Parts: sequence; C-alpha cells; structure tokens
Amino acid sequence: MKNQIWQKKWVFGNWKMNGSLSQNQDLLNHFSSLPEHHRVLVGIAAPFAYLFQVCQAEKKSNQLVACAQDVSKFAQAGAFTGEVAASMLQDLGIRFSLVGHSERGIYFQEGNEENLQKMQNLLEQGITPILCVGENLAEREAGKEKDVVSHQLSILKNLGLKEVAVAYEPVWAIGTGKVATTEQIAQMHEFIYQNILSFSDEGVNIRVLYGGSVNDGNVADIFSVPFVDGALVGGASLKANAFTAIINAAQEAK
Ligand code: PGA
Repeated sequence: MKNQIWQKKWVFGNWKMNGSLSQNQDLLNHFSSLPEHHRVLVGIAAPFAYLFQVCQAEKKSNQLVACAQDVSKFAQAGAFTGEVAASMLQDLGIRFSLVGHSERGIYFQEGNEENLQKMQNLLEQGITPILCVGENLAEREAGKEKDVVSHQLSILKNLGLKEVAVAYEPVWAIGTGKVATTEQIAQMHEFIYQNILSFSDEGVNIRVLYGGSVNDGNVADIFSVPFVDGALVGGASLKANAFTAIINAAQEAK
C-alpha cells in the first residue's frame, strides 16, 4: 500500500547514470513482483530517459514509486535546452525527486541556491523533494560536519513544510564501501531531526534516510540506529538480490 507513507521505512534506489531499457525492465519486474512489504515504501530514482518506464512499473505495483534524480531550477517551461521541469515530472505522475545529491555539487557546482529553487518548483507541483545533505571527508576531519549539514538544511526553513524528507549521505561514504559508523549515523540523524523540529510546526512528518555504501550486509545494523527512517541506495540498488534484501531488512526493522 502506498498510503501512510510517513510512517513507513523508505528504501530508495538511486540508479544514477546507469541502466538500459532491458536491464531496467528486469529489475523492475523483480521488484514489482515482490510480496507486499506493508511497512516499506520502495522508490526507484532512475535517469530522466527511463522515468516513464518506472512509472509504468509503479502502476502495476502496490509498493513501488518512481523518483526523479533531479529537476530543473527553472520554474517555467521554455528555452532551457537539456532541462526537465517539475511540471513535466508532475505530468508523468511522479511524486518524489531527489534534490541536491552531492554529485550535483561536485560535478555541476550546484549548492543551496539551486537546491532551494528546485525544492520550490517541486513543492509547487505537489512533488515530495528528498533533500540530500552530507559533509565531505575534509569537513568531517575538521569536525565541521554538523555546521555543513545545518547550512544545507537551512533552505528548508522558510518553506512552511508539513512533511520533510532528507537523505543524510556523507560524501566520503558514497560509492567508496566506507560506511559511517552506527554512532556517527545516530548522532547526525538525531541532529537532523532536532534541526528540522526547531523550525517546523508541531506534527510535522519527517523521514531521514541514510545513504552511502548501504548494502545487504550492513543494512540491518544501519536500520537498528534510532532516527534512521530508511536508506538511499546507489550501487546495491542495481543488483536485484541485494536491493531485495535491503527492502526485507526495512520490513523487519523495529
Ligand atoms: P552508494 O550511493 O550506495 O553507491 O554509496 C549512494 C548515493 O549516492 O545515493
């Protein structure tokens, strides 16, 4: 069931720039034929070119949802070659989008300003943004991780959100096989919760996902950490068995 999503664990696969029609279809057939995990919302963040394919799978599944990896900072359709507007995602029936993935920062120099514009465009279209935050290794080593994350979260402050979804992804843990320790995850997730609660109205719905080298071997430990409401999974989401094991772990998590 795709209702009551704010009480569920969210397991979102981020396919990044990977896939082909046939590879995707194999994965989607596998995920949409899984028995229902009523405590889990399963998302697939596919490249724009393949989002329609994921939308088709979403229609046939009672737990799978399509998610964009990004959206244009431009609000109105027009002469912006290569861009995809939030209104186009809405037109496809997409209800979720990542915003501010660290790879957008590293390769495209995007930051708070762009992320805020993207958030606003998505919200205007009724699409739930999942804001990605996280420090790099130098920032962690300098003990500045909370300052960095708090700066990244600051764009949420004036949006009057009743629902907030954030993915904490330490940059040094993405695609490196280096997972943050459960202690590091616990501290940051609690910090993110407190930060969001400090500027939100009572009753705000919050999901904070962890991301960075999550796989079928480490996910049970990660899901046992307080304030971890799910996972954003890159590499392991391209493997049917590993991603299925992560979904199962979410269903079993307390
Ligand atoms: P990873 O990627 O699981 O391959 O580390 C996570 C992400 O970048 O969302």
